Amino acid sequence: MKIIILGPPGAGKGTQAEIISKKYGIPHLSVGEIFRENIRRRTELGLKVQKYVESGELVPDEIVIKLTIRKLMESYGTFGGYILDGYPRTLKQAEVLDKSEVAPEIILSIKVSEDECVRRLSNRRYCTKCGATYNLIFKPPKKDEICDLCGVKLIQREDDKEEVIRNRFREYYLKTKPVLQYYRRTGKLFEINGEGTIDEVTHRIIEVLKSIRTQNL
Ligand code: AP5
Ligand code: MG
Repeated sequence: MKIIILGPPGAGKGTQAEIISKKYGIPHLSVGEIFRENIRRRTELGLKVQKYVESGELVPDEIVIKLTIRKLMESYGTFGGYILDGYPRTLKQAEVLDKSEVAPEIILSIKVSEDECVRRLSNRRYCTKCGATYNLIFKPPKKDEICDLCGVKLIQREDDKEEVIRNRFREYYLKTKPVLQYYRRTGKLFEINGEGTIDEVTHRIIEVLKSIRTQNL
């Protein structure tokens, strides 16, 4: 399966992609996560993208496209599928991906209101050691702000500050909404109601994936 998961900031893309990846044994690729990891390690790529990621702007296509297609080819070559989270976010990214050998078959669009996304983002915390994501309200760690897996103190993402969240939404409406329109015309887009608990959303996604598989039998 070659699956893309799109949606506004905080919609639950990463949370759901992780669950689907484990359930179906396909690798989860998150472009945002690759950037954050490189920023943490202060690599050449990290230094190049830091100012965009931390201010909530999209990283320029010239940097994102080559990197993502290369990572997808590696994943696809090894595992025969992928679930890609947060890409494409511009029409250019979508067009290049669709012409590549790793063009997606299924696009899941998670729909959540902006108010709910902001509520989720302001309570999100993550572990710098293993990358696990928590939510102080909806998915709290067992011990106050400590990672269940590593025992490390959880932190807030640089771009989860209020003014940066606003920028991320601006970018989403301006540049990524047209991508949904583009995929709607291909018949590969499936809209998922992303409100409700994490389990409820997962259930809706699995139902959609099952129905697509049945149709293709
Ligand atoms: P990225 O890391 O992809 O950020 P994003 O799109 O803003 O999305 P998030 O990761 O914030 O949210 P999510 O939808 O994954 O939600 P999550 O599952 O964590 O990108 C970061 C930056 O990198 C961009 O701003 C840009 O600069 C750059 N970038 C990345 N891709 C790019 C591209 N293609 N082109 C150019 N630049 C790019 O959930 C959020 C919180 O809610 C968590 O705490 C979670 O526990 C909780 N939660 C999840 N589901 C539920 C639920 N159902 N109920 C209650 N809580 C829930
Ligand atoms: Mg994410």
